[in-house]
Amino acid sequence: MNLEPQSTEPPEKEPWTIKRLLDWTAEHFEKRDTDNPRLRAEVLLAEALDCPRIELYTQFATVPSGDSLKNFRSWVKRHAAGEPVAYLVGSKEFYSLKFSVDTNVLIPRPETEHVIIEAIEAVKSLGLSVPRIADVGTGSGCIAVTLATQLPASQICAIDLSRAALDVAQRNANDHNVGANIQIIESDLFAEVPDQQFDLVVSNPPYIGTAEQNTVADSVRDFEPHVALFAGQEGMDVIRRLVASSVERLSENGYLIVEISPFILERCQALIRETSGLEWVKLVNDYSGHARVLVARRVMG
Ligand SMILES: C[S@@+](CC[C@H](N)C(=O)[O-])C[C@H]1O[C@@H](n2cnc3c(N)ncnc32)[C@H](O)[C@@H]1O
Repeated sequence: MNLEPQSTEPPEKEPWTIKRLLDWTAEHFEKRDTDNPRLRAEVLLAEALDCPRIELYTQFATVPSGDSLKNFRSWVKRHAAGEPVAYLVGSKEFYSLKFSVDTNVLIPRPETEHVIIEAIEAVKSLGLSVPRIADVGTGSGCIAVTLATQLPASQICAIDLSRAALDVAQRNANDHNVGANIQIIESDLFAEVPDQQFDLVVSNPPYIGTAEQNTVADSVRDFEPHVALFAGQEGMDVIRRLVASSVERLSENGYLIVEISPFILERCQALIRETSGLEWVKLVNDYSGHARVLVARRVMG
């Protein structure tokens, strides 16, 4: 890859304006089969220039230089080689909020927003004034922090077995001014969580089976933390333990809301059916029509 103006035409004839940088980079990414190549180019350039993305459009004729251009070129090269944009720029938008990310946490995905939508609906249906929520496998904290911003009276335990991930979650909680709502707990599921009941257990656990490892994009497998992705041969190792331990922790009528994939849907349905104390409520499809979130409910007796 070469972004040097000299490589094509003399710079004085055709300078590397913002418009030209974006056009060239989007085309470069497109050749590598990435989706949304233009958006990726814009996110990288906006971050390199430290300006909102929309501002690029009002500055089309500007010719960037110095460190910002150097950073941009280096990011373009690294992204073309597979490194995710979010790790390069250190952040990702989720539910219209900006979350810090690094390679210790999964990059928040739009599908996970369905967990938020279902959790808010569950809190409404329970008529709770102070919802007690456990977010198991919090990673960047995108679920816990978003719920705290949407449900300001909530008390949330954000749990993860990765200390490094919890540091990112804490930073995000502070940045969004919801640190007081969120207790950060380093724990394997509920093992280290003080004995208490929750109205909601929400989770986006690792659910990719080693059998489907080859279906995972290289940029995901090579850069995102494997503890956030893989869960045994069938992808069920964490979910099985999560379902069993959630029964103990949910209050009567409390909701279990878990992100899943179509690969494990049938096994999850069977698991909920055979778990005494839980009843199946519904399955939610994501924006692409894939099975994505299961909702179950704690029933007594
Ligand atoms: C798929 S990521 C989800 C991160 C974040 N909640 C999101 O939706 O983007 C799963 C997270 O679960 C954590 N995790 C995996 N096994 C766990 C366990 N047994 N107990 C607690 N956390 C676990 C991983 O460290 C990772 O941060």
